[in-house]
Order: sequence, then C-alpha cells, then structure tokens
Amino acid sequence: MDIKATNVVWHNTSVKREDREKILKQKGILLWFTGLSGSGKSSVAVMLEQRLHDKGKLTYLLDGDNVRHGLNKDLGFSSTDRIENIRRIAELSKLFVDAGIITIATFISPFIEEREKVKKLLGEDFREIYVNCPLEICETRDPKGIYKKARQGTIKDFTGIDSPYQEPINPDITIHTNENSLEECTSQIINYLYG
Ligand code: ADX
Repeated sequence: MDIKATNVVWHNTSVKREDREKILKQKGILLWFTGLSGSGKSSVAVMLEQRLHDKGKLTYLLDGDNVRHGLNKDLGFSSTDRIENIRRIAELSKLFVDAGIITIATFISPFIEEREKVKKLLGEDFREIYVNCPLEICETRDPKGIYKKARQGTIKDFTGIDSPYQEPINPDITIHTNENSLEECTSQIINYLYG
C-alpha cells in the first residue's frame, strides 16, 4: 500500500534500537503464533510470557481478541478485514521490536500471504510458531462456545468452518497442543530461544 499522506518526511532519532537494547540487555524479536481458534495460542503465549518475565526479560503480548477491542475494533472477519488486521499488527509489532521488546503476537492469521508480509516487514526479527491442533480437538474444546455458533450458522466466516486456514509451510517452531502439555509446549519454545 502506498502512503496516502503527502508532504511527510521521515525523522531520524538520536536514541537508537541498539541503545535501548543495551539498557534492556536483550534483543527485540517478534514471536508470531498462528493457529486455529481454540488451538491454544493464547494459553501457551501467556505461559511463555510469564517464563520470559521470570527470566528478567521485557515482553509484551499482543492478543487477537484483545486488539480487536481497541486498535482494530473497526474490523470484522471478512478476508479484507483480516488482511488489514494483520497489517496493522505487523506495523505495531515492528515498533515494539524496535523498542527492544520481546513481542509475542497471537492471531489466527489464517493466510500464508499475510504471514509472509509480516515476515518480510520484520526480516530477521521474525519467528513463526505454528500452534498445530486438529480442528476436531479445537472444536471439542470450544472454550468460548463459538464453534457451536459457527456450526449453527450464527457466526459467519469462521476459520476452519466456512473460512480457510492455510497451514504454515516452513514454520520456525511447531508445537502440538493436543499431544504435549502446556508446560512442554512452552519449554519447547524456551529451548528454541535459549537452547
Ligand atoms: S484473524 O483471522 O484476523 O487473525 P484474530 O486472531 O484477530 O483473527 O481473532 C480471532 C478471535 O476472534 C478468535 O479467537 C475468536 O474468539 C474470535 N472470532 C469471532 N468471530 C470469528 C470468526 N468469524 N473467525 C475467527 N475468529 C472469530
């Protein structure tokens, strides 16, 4: 998308990302969780954030449901709105990462093309974490009762039901929340990050 505003110029700052990272003693990174609703993205992300916080890391968790209450409250679930949802989150995440923060984003983000755009925007600061859980299991869990509504047709364009989910082709990490516990999935990510 082109810039709509004319007569805007980029201003350089004197305090740089490296300066902030030096103070924080960490590097900014974006950990991007993708997966079906009910796959466990938020649960794992919350535990991961706590573990990182306990290690003294500065983190921030951006969650789909939460962001849709504020920044993106004008967006629904049509393909166009989902694309705009992810575009804004990507830009927001880039600012957080530039601030030196370990940023965790949990969005269904069902389209490969949109996730690729996030990856391109963040470059080497991006890691894709695929929260792999079969639809039947997510549907059985149905923590918010929304799969039921989607099956009844009261919610339209629901991911996995009448809107597609495109699995990542080459994610940095895949966690299986139906085979491993929350603790195990979280440790898998911690081990990946800190070996
Ligand atoms: S995304 O597709 O644009 O990435 P996002 O992660 O922000 O989705 O929001 C998903 C959350 O919104 C789900 O966890 C669910 O609680 C809620 N939701 C409400 N309607 C829908 C829908 N039609 N499809 C998917 N999720 C929905």
